[in-house]
Amino acid sequence: MTITEIREEAVAELPRLKAEPRLAAADLACGYDERSVLKELNLQIPEESFTVIIGPNACGKSTLLRSLARLIRPAAGEVLLDGDAISSIPTKQLARTIGLLPQTSLAPEGITVADLVSRGRHPHQSLLRRWGREDEAAVRHALEVTGTTELATRAVDALSGGQRQRAWIAMTLAQQTPIMLLDEPTTYLDIAHQIEVLELCTQLQREGRTLVAVLHDLNQALRYATHLVAMREGQIIAQGHPEEIGTAELVREVFGIDSLVIGDPETGRPLVIPRAPAA
Ligand SMILES: Nc1ncnc2c1ncn2[C@@H]1O[C@H](COP(=O)(O)OP(=O)(O)OP(=O)(O)O)[C@@H](O)[C@H]1O
Ligand SMILES: [Mg+2]
Repeated sequence: MTITEIREEAVAELPRLKAEPRLAAADLACGYDERSVLKELNLQIPEESFTVIIGPNACGKSTLLRSLARLIRPAAGEVLLDGDAISSIPTKQLARTIGLLPQTSLAPEGITVADLVSRGRHPHQSLLRRWGREDEAAVRHALEVTGTTELATRAVDALSGGQRQRAWIAMTLAQQTPIMLLDEPTTYLDIAHQIEVLELCTQLQREGRTLVAVLHDLNQALRYATHLVAMREGQIIAQGHPEEIGTAELVREVFGIDSLVIGDPETGRPLVIPRAPAA
């Protein structure tokens, strides 16, 4: 069997993803003041997928996540949540549906990890529904799975970079939203914690959530994504299963570097080995 045949067979065996996209962008254009960043962007986030977005610095990945979370208003086009314009969805309902881990975030001075994570429960509270056992359980679980239980009483601004990142992930998890948007969740984490977070994402996806993460590590993206989205200069260059689109041509098109792409001996997924530029 040739590599191509093996790959074709693997692609044929992939579980079929649900057809209806959970989140979609249709001809989306947006930016900041005079700077246009996303240009007529079309994207579909399959339901119950672990979608990973890759692309060079400043290509618009964070801008895209912010638009999907309705933190930026589009200049043209729209974002659709289950087929409805996201602009028409009541704020509280949206906050209970989509959780966003921003690329950088500042915690209020002196706030403890437990308090920060508890704030993730705000969208679930109302005049009629005060803090309860369910909230307590959600916070405890978020602290547990991110390994931050021991940090609960510590001030967020006195943590190491990796500890702080895990506290923010816990805050996003505590929201228990069916859709989670994670902007570089593995930044600042050592390799063991990176794998832990990515495995957690896979577990959440298998339990039925829809996850969208921006990752800079191409091999982790190819290994963990059920759906890969490659961006360049505010547009989507390719989207599909990593086995289908993870090629040296894509790496050249997106990042402008030569590479060798082989089958990962551990997972069979494409593995990118960058080549040094010609002298
Ligand atoms: N708040 C802002 N005001 C003005 N311009 C911004 C703002 N945020 C981002 N930009 C610009 O928009 C463009 C896209 O930025 P964005 O943060 O979406 O990139 P990115 O793909 O997430 O990059 P990185 O990999 O470095 O995180 C960049 O040129 C950036 O300078
Ligand atoms: Mg970014």
